[in-house]
Amino acid sequence: MKIDILTLFPNMFEGIFRESIIKRAIANQKVEINLINFRDFSSLNNQQVDDTPYGGGAGMVLRCEPLIAALESVKTKDSLVILLTPQGKTYNQQMAQSLTKQKHLILICGHYEGFDERILNFVDQEISIGDFVLTGGEIAAAAIVDSVVRLVDEVINAESANNDSFSNNLLDYPTYTKPRVFRGLEVPEVLLSGNHEKINKWRQEKQIEITKQKRPDLLKGENK
Ligand SMILES: C[S@@+](CC[C@H](N)C(=O)[O-])C[C@H]1O[C@@H](n2cnc3c(N)ncnc32)[C@H](O)[C@@H]1O
Repeated sequence: MKIDILTLFPNMFEGIFRESIIKRAIANQKVEINLINFRDFSSLNNQQVDDTPYGGGAGMVLRCEPLIAALESVKTKDSLVILLTPQGKTYNQQMAQSLTKQKHLILICGHYEGFDERILNFVDQEISIGDFVLTGGEIAAAAIVDSVVRLVDEVINAESANNDSFSNNLLDYPTYTKPRVFRGLEVPEVLLSGNHEKINKWRQEKQIEITKQKRPDLLKGENK
């Protein structure tokens, strides 16, 4: 999978993509990630990318020209173009799963007051990572890249990904590690039994119990 991120602040991604599982996925060629600064595509003398809004009002608006020139420099027939915006469809695990099927993702990060509305004519999807407003699309893009890349084949253990929260509309089961007793808090006896049938049954029951308690909307399929 190839992912191109169009951003004015490529340095914001440096730490995230140079650590842990994403770093390993890049090194093992499971994913190629390119950071494209669309300021480089501005035809204005001072490489200006934004301007004041028509009709007046606060803030600066990203201009179409540098953004679309950057987009067209990387777009192919296999690309899925995603605009990060608080007005988009709220992102979830099912959307992450479906993005893993794409050969090429292009993520566009807005900034400042937002972007010229005409940019919507050049994108396939608008995605929001939640009902709050970020300074820019970079954190949203990083969240999407992280959640998609870990689902790409052979990046993490498939069993672990299948049991994660939100797979099958359930939250994950509780997990414990050593020591067996911590400050009087004991590990559930069944996990020490060595009986895998019993353990699996307990885990499935816990998934349902915890989901009912914390996220009943998932069981009703209301999060789609
Ligand atoms: C300050 S925001 C602009 C918000 C815009 N004025 C509005 O109210 O819809 C700047 C940029 O951050 C990104 N952004 C902010 N919140 C986001 C969210 N919840 N999900 C995805 N991207 C977001 C978008 O790319 C947006 O263009």
